[in-house]
Amino acid sequence: MTNSEYWEQRYQDGTDVWDLGQAVPPFISLLESTALPPGRLAVLGCGRGYDALLFAEYGFDVIGFDFANSVITEANALAEATESSAKFLTRDIFDLPNEFEGYFDYLVEHTCFCAIYPAQRPAYVQMAKSILKPQGEIIGLFFTHNRPGGPPFGVTTTEIREYFSNDFEIRSLEPAINSIPKRQGEEHMGRFRVIKK
Ligand SMILES: C[S@@+](CC[C@H](N)C(=O)[O-])C[C@H]1O[C@@H](n2cnc3c(N)ncnc32)[C@H](O)[C@@H]1O
Repeated sequence: MTNSEYWEQRYQDGTDVWDLGQAVPPFISLLESTALPPGRLAVLGCGRGYDALLFAEYGFDVIGFDFANSVITEANALAEATESSAKFLTRDIFDLPNEFEGYFDYLVEHTCFCAIYPAQRPAYVQMAKSILKPQGEIIGLFFTHNRPGGPPFGVTTTEIREYFSNDFEIRSLEPAINSIPKRQGEEHMGRFRVIKK
């Protein structure tokens, strides 16, 4: 069962092995090498908020979402301590269309798509399309490992294309640059643009 209690318990137990204590390096490389026009940006399943703080540093108007309440409290405290403009809200990502329909220019994905059940992936794609503006963009770092079970649930690049390509133009989907050693060869960076609203 991967509901909010499950994830909150992982944080409370200290088994939050995914937490890098910093923004994930492939996003740092992307922002250093690419002039992305700033805009409104959602970070889904943001955890303690390091990726959100990074994008805010680059001028994006960022809201991070997670349904584990304690990490949202920690992320807001970190934003305040670092004088970041990033905001963090406790939400289930699947409820976001009720509140943020057509609101964001960008959606940042990192270790949220692998945290939900594979059966929820079509709903994730529809939620992503719904909260983005026409022509809005997903910037996604996908965990493309091939071990059975999860979370984290692995996904292949072929499956990613199948899930997203009805609603998004797959502008790029490439092996990530600058993955941390234990994720080498198991991450792909994708940039997908909404094609239909
Ligand atoms: C593997 S952790 C990754 C956290 C963060 N992205 C990081 O890399 O540190 C997955 C996160 O997604 C959150 N999450 C999973 N399903 C969610 C949902 N339906 N709505 C909101 N958050 C969700 C969990 O609470 C957890 O913080």
